[in-house]
Amino acid sequence: VKRIGVLTSGGDAPGMNAAVRSVVRAAVYRGIEVVGIRRGWNGLINGDIVRLDERSVAHIIDRGGTILYTARSEEFRTEEGQKKAVSTCKLLGLDGIVAIGGDGTFRGALALSKYGISVVGLPGTIDNDIACTDYCIGFDTAANTAIECIDKLRDTMQSHERCSVVEVMGRNAGHLALYVGLAVGATAVLVPESKESFDTEIIEKIRNARLNGFTHYMVVVAEGAGSAFDVANRIRDEIALDPRVTVLGHVQRGGSPTARDRVMATRMGYRAVEILAAGSTNRIVGVHQGKIFDIDIDEALSMNKGLDMEEWAVLEAMTGL
Ligand code: F6P
Repeated sequence: VKRIGVLTSGGDAPGMNAAVRSVVRAAVYRGIEVVGIRRGWNGLINGDIVRLDERSVAHIIDRGGTILYTARSEEFRTEEGQKKAVSTCKLLGLDGIVAIGGDGTFRGALALSKYGISVVGLPGTIDNDIACTDYCIGFDTAANTAIECIDKLRDTMQSHERCSVVEVMGRNAGHLALYVGLAVGATAVLVPESKESFDTEIIEKIRNARLNGFTHYMVVVAEGAGSAFDVANRIRDEIALDPRVTVLGHVQRGGSPTARDRVMATRMGYRAVEILAAGSTNRIVGVHQGKIFDIDIDEALSMNKGLDMEEWAVLEAMTGL
């Protein structure tokens, strides 16, 4: 293996830069050259590249976002787009591609692998919704950002004795909402995995909190479970509170990565290079019970991830009726 490419694709996540740095440093350590591909799969289609060496990735381990830029590529979904990307790989003499991103990124990697290109995926998404891995780069930083914001909200909600409804990201999954809900001591958490319980759960939990002497309430809503504005309206209609809504939005994707994200990204990036250097391909890197491992892409994409039921049970007890 002489030369590999690295790209970031899909929604950015804090720690992507640490992953890029690790791929570059681990490759250089093995005498492998690295080409940065900019703007996700679009960069591979358009030949949008930058050569990377040890120095070009200096002082990025602490930076949020991605120095390689990112995008969600429509063109790469087409056969024509994929063929252009394959041509770029051939022109540049790339022996493999490390793609950092989420589910969509891995589907792109899988498509490319069908043309004989070696690919390795690294999970990077604040949603933590990649089924084959316990952890995705960016989740811890996003959770800490959300927690910091909600702690601030609580101060004013407590002073005014109000109800706050906070919407957190997560796409179709409730991992971020559950984790954040546990960390802020939420009154109730609404996740897509169990939203049928809205009336009994949210209303009863707020009512119960009031009966126990509380006069402010923090409701955390995963975006996949519905709009925080709708939830607030229902609370207004059913129990006559006057909730304030905060949609945390893209602020959750920014910021300097936490130690957990930096170290996880560095370990995963190192493994990605090891895989390509060993001549393996079609792998996704993950972590299970604290250990880095890798798994076939097809197999990884066929898996489903539910909420952590132990965390859910704890939340139920903490917000219990
Ligand atoms: O997948 C990461 C994520 O931030 C999701 O939580 C969210 O639903 C989505 O991306 C938002 O995408 P965009 O940046 O295109 O608005």
